Amino acid sequence: MRYTAKTGALVETNASCLVIPRALAGEIGDALGARQAVERALAATKGKPGAVARVLLDGRPSRLLVVGGEAPGEGRKERKEKRGEPAGAGAERAFHKDVKAAAKALAAEDCADAAWAVDGFDAGGREACWKARTALAAVSAATYRFTRFKSKKVSRPKLRRVAVHSTNRSGVRLAARHATALDAGLALAKDLGNGPPNVCDPAFIAAAGRDLAQSDVTVEVIDEAKMAKLGMGAFLSVTQGTRRPAKLVVVYYQGAAAEQAPIVLVGKGITFDTGGTNLKPNAGMGEMKFDMCGAAAVLGAAKAAIAARLPVNVVAMAAAAENMPGGAASRPSDIVTTMSGKTVEILNTDAEGRLVLCDALTYAERFKPRAVVDVATLTGAQVVALGSPASALYANDDELADALLAAGRTTHDRFWRMPLWEDYQEQLKSEFADMKNIGGRSAGSITAACFLSRFANYPWAHLDIAGAAFSGSDNKRATGRPTAALFQYLLDAAAGQAP
Ligand code: BES
Ligand code: MN
Ligand code: ZN
Repeated sequence: MRYTAKTGALVETNASCLVIPRALAGEIGDALGARQAVERALAATKGKPGAVARVLLDGRPSRLLVVGGEAPGEGRKERKEKRGEPAGAGAERAFHKDVKAAAKALAAEDCADAAWAVDGFDAGGREACWKARTALAAVSAATYRFTRFKSKKVSRPKLRRVAVHSTNRSGVRLAARHATALDAGLALAKDLGNGPPNVCDPAFIAAAGRDLAQSDVTVEVIDEAKMAKLGMGAFLSVTQGTRRPAKLVVVYYQGAAAEQAPIVLVGKGITFDTGGTNLKPNAGMGEMKFDMCGAAAVLGAAKAAIAARLPVNVVAMAAAAENMPGGAASRPSDIVTTMSGKTVEILNTDAEGRLVLCDALTYAERFKPRAVVDVATLTGAQVVALGSPASALYANDDELADALLAAGRTTHDRFWRMPLWEDYQEQLKSEFADMKNIGGRSAGSITAACFLSRFANYPWAHLDIAGAAFSGSDNKRATGRPTAALFQYLLDAAAGQAP
């Protein structure tokens, strides 16, 4: 998708479809000489939040989509904050609902290009740039399709270009630039996430990493022989039961001076998680193709950062392996030595994510990072605790945590901070090694984070995205989350507004 910016008279944008807020409907209807048709459409959607009224016109634009069931300030309860929410959150929620519906309607139109008016939408005091970014992110979500494995041609949205319109020229320009970059990053993250595990295996993820190579971007793929030399005993234990070799993919983007410390993003890339010797039950095992969505999100965020040429150094690492119960697989009670030298008693081979990540986190030390953020579909316990609206955030650094929380709020790709108290570390005590890889039934997402914290000797945050990474009732799909939040964090860091 191509996103551009427009200012000037809205009716002269020459787009084939015009998307406008309800507040502008009268004025635009008059300017287009279609007052009656617009009024009829408005009457049909009045009082229906998230409704989109469609008006067919002669000429260009040939369609008008009027978004929202109420004008701002009409004060329906949709716009009110609920208990525990900051001011403006209610209007923001209503705005999200409106743009999501509008983007869906737009994707269904037989139009290759559209103009989307941003002024006149009420988003609780958010400025034009944010409104434009949010609208375009909704367009990206509504137009994405994964059709690679359909043998017959399937119909796809015709939309190719969207211009966001506002009197705030610099705001919409920036929004269009960043939204175009994010669209590419999100598409990569979702394509990798949706890819079947017989195709999207560790070698495939390595190839996707190599694809990012260009000027200022270098890519290194660490194979099993190199991992063995580095002493990555935990990482290697996970890949023992599969015939598909593991890869640690390292993408280095130098957007700023070489001496500037990089932000390192580390993603869990288990391309299929059977549980290993501790085999998972049948129900839902197919969902475990999504167990590489952390890796997909960090590669997606790197792709967006590169596309936007952000002035910041970024290392994106994908820890890619398959967790299979082959004859050479690890067993519960095996003890392995991690790259850090610490030993781990593997009491459950299904707690494999932390085993690949701990060695990746140790490897990250060599970059002398400004901050490290790991992203992982790590625990079922995270889904139990928070579901999909918020991913779990853990951090050993308050500023980093606050920056990620803010980036999540900005992109509506949200996190909720969880405790990393010493009290929970108790649960990882092992009889025979330095630690166990499981912490018992209680606080499963927290004890997994506690395990990782032992390998993070720098400002570090961990995002457990098990609930957010994929969604759907019957047919589950990759959401691309938290690519948008990670990209926002990199944007803020590039602007010196985040650690
Ligand atoms: N990949 C799973 C976690 C998961 C569950 C992700 C559901 C997405 C949806 C992870 O490797 C796993 O199996 N975790 C175990 C840990 C346990 C053995 C300590 C879990 O959550 O049950
Ligand atoms: Mn597992
Ligand atoms: Zn897993």
